This record gives sequence, C-alpha cells and structure tokens, in this order.
Amino acid sequence: MDEKLFKEYGYKFIDWIAEYFDTLQERPVCADVNPGDVLKQLPASPPREGEDLGRIFADFQQIILPGMTHWQHPSWFAYFAASNSAPSILAELLTAGMGAQCMIWQTSPAATELEEQMVRWLGQMLGLPSTLSGVIQDTASTATLVALLSAREKATGFSSNERGLDEQLVVYASREAHSSVDKGVRIAGLGQQNLRRIATDDDYAMQPEALRRAIEQDKAAGLRPACVVATVGTTSSTAIDPIEPIGRICTEHNIWLHVDAAYAGTAAILPEKQWIFAAAEAVDSLVFNPHKWMMTNFDCSVYFVKDAEQLTKTFEIHPEYLKTGVDARVKNYRDWGIQLGRRFRALKLWFVIRYYGISGLQQVIREHLRLARLFEGWVKDHPHFELMAPVPFSVVCFRLNDGRDAAALNDLNAAFYEKLSEQQTLHLTHTSLNHQYVLRMAIGSRTTAEKHVTEAWRTITETASTVLN
Ligand SMILES: Cc1ncc(COP(=O)(O)O)c(C=O)c1O
Repeated sequence: MDEKLFKEYGYKFIDWIAEYFDTLQERPVCADVNPGDVLKQLPASPPREGEDLGRIFADFQQIILPGMTHWQHPSWFAYFAASNSAPSILAELLTAGMGAQCMIWQTSPAATELEEQMVRWLGQMLGLPSTLSGVIQDTASTATLVALLSAREKATGFSSNERGLDEQLVVYASREAHSSVDKGVRIAGLGQQNLRRIATDDDYAMQPEALRRAIEQDKAAGLRPACVVATVGTTSSTAIDPIEPIGRICTEHNIWLHVDAAYAGTAAILPEKQWIFAAAEAVDSLVFNPHKWMMTNFDCSVYFVKDAEQLTKTFEIHPEYLKTGVDARVKNYRDWGIQLGRRFRALKLWFVIRYYGISGLQQVIREHLRLARLFEGWVKDHPHFELMAPVPFSVVCFRLNDGRDAAALNDLNAAFYEKLSEQQTLHLTHTSLNHQYVLRMAIGSRTTAEKHVTEAWRTITETASTVLN
C-alpha cells in the first residue's frame, strides 16, 4: 500500500470511528443475525490477487458491522462493560503502527519501562501498598492462572516445575468466584476436584469461618492448601469477600492469597472506595482489568504481586537466543507470565491516565455509581420488583416478584428476560443467585448517561407489565 492510499484510508477510518460513536445510540445494541448469517457471506477461499481497499471497507460495513454487538453502546448494561475511549484508541493505533513485540527490555526498552511506571501509577491510584510490583497481562483469567501457578510452585518449593505434581494441592474460592478459577486449576494441573467452593453469606461474600474449616479439614486429611482466591466484585452480584479475615487465615496457614478484582478494582480510584483494598498488605497477588471499567481498550489486565521473585522463579527460562548483556540490570517481562511475545499495552494506559487525569477517571466512575444508586432506588420503590443483592458498585441485581412461589418466580423472570432481550434498545444479562433467576443492570459504559438509564427503566417496566398481564 502506498503512502497516499494509507493516509487516505487512515483519515477515513478515524472519521468512520468518530461517526460510529456519534450514531451508536441509534443502532440496535445487539447484532440482529442468526448463526451462520455472516459465515455464508464470506468467500470459501482466500483471494489469489490483492483486493481494492475500498471494496474491503465496503464489505466491512455490509457484512461485518451488522453482525457486531455494540459494546460501546450507551445502553450496554450486560456482563461488565469493556469500555474504550478516544485516547486509548489513538494509542492503540500508534502501537499497531510501531508493531513492536515487547518480550524483553532490549526488544523495546521504552515499552518495558513505561509498563513498570504504569503499574506503579496504578498502584498509587488504587491506594495499594507500595511494596507491590506488577505486570500487564492480557486478561484476568491469565492473571489468575499465573497466581495459581505461582502458588503451586511456592507450596512445592519450586519442585512441581521440575518433577510435576507429586502431592495434592488444594485451592479455595467462594461459590461466587469467577469460572476462570475453575479453568485455572484445570490448566495448572491442580485438578478441578481440588478446588473447594466456600459457602457465602447473605450478601454473597465468602464466609471466612467456612474457609478456615475447609482448610483445617484438608490439612487433617493430609492435603496441602496452596491458594485462596478471594473476589472483590463478584461477577454475578459484585459481592466483596472480606479480605482482612481471609488474609489472616492465609498468613496463619502460609497460603498464597490472590485477589480477583477484575471489574471492581477500578472503583478504588475513588478515595471513598479505597477501603476495598484496605487489607491489601496481606495479599500475595491481585488483578484488576482497566479494560473493563477504566476506558482502556480490551485487552489490558494488571497483575500486582508482593514477591516478584516468586513470580519470576515460577516462569523464567533462559534459552541462549534470548540472553542479552543487560539482563542483570533490567526487567524482562517475559519472565513475569506465560507468554514470550508481548503486546505494548502500557502505551494506551499512559494515554488514558494522562488524558483524563485521576480526577477525570474519578468523575466517570462516580457517575456510574450514582446512576446505579438511582436505578436501585427505582427497583426498591416499585411494587413488582425486588432488589436481589447489595449494590456496592455499579451493578444492580433485581427480579420481578409478584408473590408467586420460588419455581414460578424463576419461570416468570426467565420469560421476562427473554422478552426484554427482544428489545433492541438495550442489552442486559442474567444470572443465578442462590438458585434464583436474577437480572443484572451493569452500568459501566463511558457513554452511558442518566437519560439512557431512565430509558432502560422505562423499557424494563413496560416489558414487565406485558409479562405480568
Ligand atoms: C470477577 C471476574 N474475574 C475474572 C473475569 C475474567 O476476566 P477476563 O475476561 O479478563 O479473563 C471476570 C469477567 O467478567 C470477572 O467478572
């Protein structure tokens, strides 16, 4: 591609993205396609000769775009948001332009040193202990796997990397912990049956005493407790496991404590929310995802660790072809995780943090919290709705309740959710809490304003009326 064409389409694409943002709210939130609809429009074989860029772009608009679900839509209330922003997009463009592969310091010194400083900045922003250092991973799932592998090596004196596992290690997480913990114990070779799902209290937070009992039982049975995964902001209801008593139990039994704050960690940018990490001194590792609530393009997950040596001892391997003359003086992030090749993710963080400033980020998060409280109030005041969990952040769990029995209520809410999913003007997801069918209103999109939440409530109540009648 010559420079003229590159520039022509480069400018055109930025114009397109700007217009996409402008017109997003006029689009249906979810793709209106059936399975296979996109696939059947794609040629069975790749083109032999190169094609015209204009034609490729036209196909993007005609074939791909209608099959996309619009995560940046202001009426996106599903899962947790994966919010992006203009500074983040522009930084990603520069990253793609440079096309650097940042596996070791020497392959991009600035990428390594910027990453080191961004992790430090984020630690300060979240009020974390300055003793934590860290690394940027792709996702929280990877970070949790990294924590499990580190815990495995610590528990076995680094022998399992050499010999494989020759004893049964046990991992603990609450019943509400994310499925990435299940995946992690499988991949780490610890075995799903050695994951203990600990009971939760009425607010869906882990019960420390139940954790203690499970650990003591396992020890009495000759098993070795290796890791506790506590969650700050569970996926279903954003419950907060009590880190302080859990930390005490982990210290007492010399168990690795990993905190999964994938979504809710961002809230600690607010001074009034920093209590969520008040007990972080006791934590061995902690993950949060700027790609969820901090307006940073997917993917970007920050993994903090207390003892970086435990981490690097778990992952480092020194083949001759990767050795450099400066290894003793620099951080080589390839030794801080699973992959060798690494994207330059720190650049978009640098752009986002500098462009918004701490106060700009706080403003966005505070507004989402305010909107969630508003919605929570509407749910509480409505005779046919029931609030299903506390609202510590920006997710409201609710259901219809007109007094029928538990099974019938589940059917009613499933039917309600199905009807709501037919609406193209918003997107919510559902979950199960204590065997109860629950809807989740998750506010976290950068573009969501009060009018979108008000409009969503109108659609929800109107749909509820049709289901109840
Ligand atoms: C609490 C929690 N942990 C982990 C994850 C997994 O995140 P990722 O997609 O970054 O792996 C999620 C996803 O929503 C989550 O809610």
